Amino acid sequence: MKLCVAFALTVALACSSEAHYIFSKLVINGEVSNDWQYIRQTTRSKAYEPTKFSNTYDDLTPNDSDFRCNLDSFTNAAKTEVAEVAAGDTIAMRLNYDATVSHPGPGQVYMSKAPSGNVKEYEGDGEWFKIWEKTLCNENGDLYRDAWCTYGLSEFEFKIPEDTPAGEYLVRAEHVGLHKAFHNEAEIFYSCAQIKVTGSGTGSPDITYKIPGIYNDTMKIFNGASIYTESASQILSDIKDSPIGDDVWTGGGTFSTSASSTPVPTQSATAKATHFSQSAHHNSSVKARNQGARKLGRRA
Ligand SMILES: *[C@@H]1O[C@H](CO)[C@@H](O)[C@H](O)[C@H]1NC(C)=O
Ligand SMILES: *[C@@H]1O[C@H](CO)[C@@H](O)[C@H](O)[C@H]1NC(C)=O
Ligand SMILES: *[C@@H]1O[C@H](CO)[C@@H](O)[C@H](O)[C@H]1NC(C)=O
Repeated sequence: MKLCVAFALTVALACSSEAHYIFSKLVINGEVSNDWQYIRQTTRSKAYEPTKFSNTYDDLTPNDSDFRCNLDSFTNAAKTEVAEVAAGDTIAMRLNYDATVSHPGPGQVYMSKAPSGNVKEYEGDGEWFKIWEKTLCNENGDLYRDAWCTYGLSEFEFKIPEDTPAGEYLVRAEHVGLHKAFHNEAEIFYSCAQIKVTGSGTGSPDITYKIPGIYNDTMKIFNGASIYTESASQILSDIKDSPIGDDVWTGGGTFSTSASSTPVPTQSATAKATHFSQSAHHNSSVKARNQGARKLGRRA
């Protein structure tokens, strides 16, 4: 892979195999569901092809409403089952075809509550919030592969925050492959599970997004960022300039930033550098605290 890094701009295509993927299974209490049992199946003939801003498959871009849960998957909503999950439980979304994440880049999980209470009728046009995020885990790793926390994973495992109010939700797992982001072809792999959250949560996420709208190609991480020429800290900075860099909601009416007893007054270069050196050390809770401090600083 050193070759890929050294001669990236010329051999990037050669380095990226047809190693594509899509989430098709839900894992609850260690039990793996059938493909598309709880996850809305897209009608695309090559379901595993990514969505991109340019040179995309099936004319689908992140500007389209089907960027929510993949092309025409709403037509399968009624026949897709709804999995019951207690708030606070850890579940996973697993890739089809025994695949593993084989492109470099961040992974996210977003949720959106069905306003009517029936997720089978919900197109995902309401508010989305982020509950899970993995970016760089290994600052000395290869940015083309194992620097990324998600590299090689066969599933994203995440906790439904304990404070999540009861109700039916779409849960959207997403992986962003950055290997061609330098020319506006970041590759986005995603689909949505239908779940019913039980419990007595009363939390309220304070950062929400609309899909489409959440991403656009003026954000450098999708259009212009280069894992071949940029440092890990530059890539992290590009990530922070997009919703992928926003805090995850872990509960409460606000983010759980109580750990940040020393809010920084501004996002100084020092704070940023500190943030990077800590976040790169495999500890998402440290990362979350630092991001919290940053956010408090911004709002002050
Ligand atoms: C997406 O929408 C934005 C805003 O309207 C526009 O600038 C951009 O060119 C669109 N991109 C694509 C790929 O359609
Ligand atoms: C892209 O997103 C940013 C941040 O939300 C926003 O400020 C900007 O207007 C968007 N650009 C387009 C073309 O939609
Ligand atoms: C990361 O933080 C969590 C929560 O504070 C802690 O349980 C875990 O041991 C830490 N991991 C490392 C590698 O420091």
